[in-house]
Amino acid sequence: MALQVIRGISQLRSVLDKHRQTGERIVCVPTMGNLHEGHMALIQLAHKHGEVVVATIFVNPLQFGLNEDWDQYPRTFDSDVDKLNSVNCHYLFFPTDEEMYPFGMDNQTRVFCPTMTDVLCGASRPGHFEGVTTVVTKLFHIADPDVAIFGEKDWQQLAVIRRMVADLCMRVKIVGAPIARDHDGLALSSRNAFISEDERPRANQLNKSLNWAREQILSGNKDYGRIEAQAKQQILDAGFRPDYFSVCNAQNLAPALDEDTDLAILGALFTEGARLIDNVQLKIER
Ligand code: PAJ
Repeated sequence: MALQVIRGISQLRSVLDKHRQTGERIVCVPTMGNLHEGHMALIQLAHKHGEVVVATIFVNPLQFGLNEDWDQYPRTFDSDVDKLNSVNCHYLFFPTDEEMYPFGMDNQTRVFCPTMTDVLCGASRPGHFEGVTTVVTKLFHIADPDVAIFGEKDWQQLAVIRRMVADLCMRVKIVGAPIARDHDGLALSSRNAFISEDERPRANQLNKSLNWAREQILSGNKDYGRIEAQAKQQILDAGFRPDYFSVCNAQNLAPALDEDTDLAILGALFTEGARLIDNVQLKIER
């Protein structure tokens, strides 16, 4: 079955209801488009979790700050459709802003997760996660999926969505997908298109520093503050401005304590034209 593009909420609901009635499981993969191999891996994983795969493309204005890149965000509908077809995605929900926010963004009821959203990416992007949780809730109400797939590249987003689903007793099962990377370790991202040619050979510094920090901790270094400071210096030395670099409890994203064993190290840096994020996970013995 070739990909079917659907722009209306009621149209999507009626096609998915038919599948549901025959016992098929719906798997949803929310995206903002400009699809790359990382997104494709999410669709491939989606096929393992159900019979009907629904991708969504919506460049959600509610999650962009006023001075952010909403209007410049790459919109590549035709090639996105080709890519979705190549991985046998069944439906693409591609709503307009008016379909998603018929009463305007300012009047939209919001979903707000009070923990984990004002640190790390949330500290430099106020309101961002409220925009994410609001649109993802709407997409869940529209598609009513059995399973939804999110990438571990946005570890904080995944953690916030998991918390929202638990807090609001949503039935959807959230599945995390591993980070897809370029040959040199740079995490794939739509925003990589904004990395200059001059910066590109050094743009994997964030990944290098995250792996370096991980090795430090695994070899017994417990001075997280010093590791974070050294990693930021490595990023500066590579010619980038660090945003944050933080050794955290992998579940609640608070700064890691001595007794924490399940850790995530998260980092963000600014290139000239983009803000890049990445993370690594590790478990330590006590
Ligand atoms: P977007 O940035 O388009 O990402 C869509 C999904 O792809 C997210 O779950 C993201 O974590 C995942 N992803 C992106 N790059 C990846 C990579 N290199 N490896 C693995 N997964 C990757 O995240 C969003 O859109 C939006 O915030 C959204 C959830 C759609 C809400 O608007």
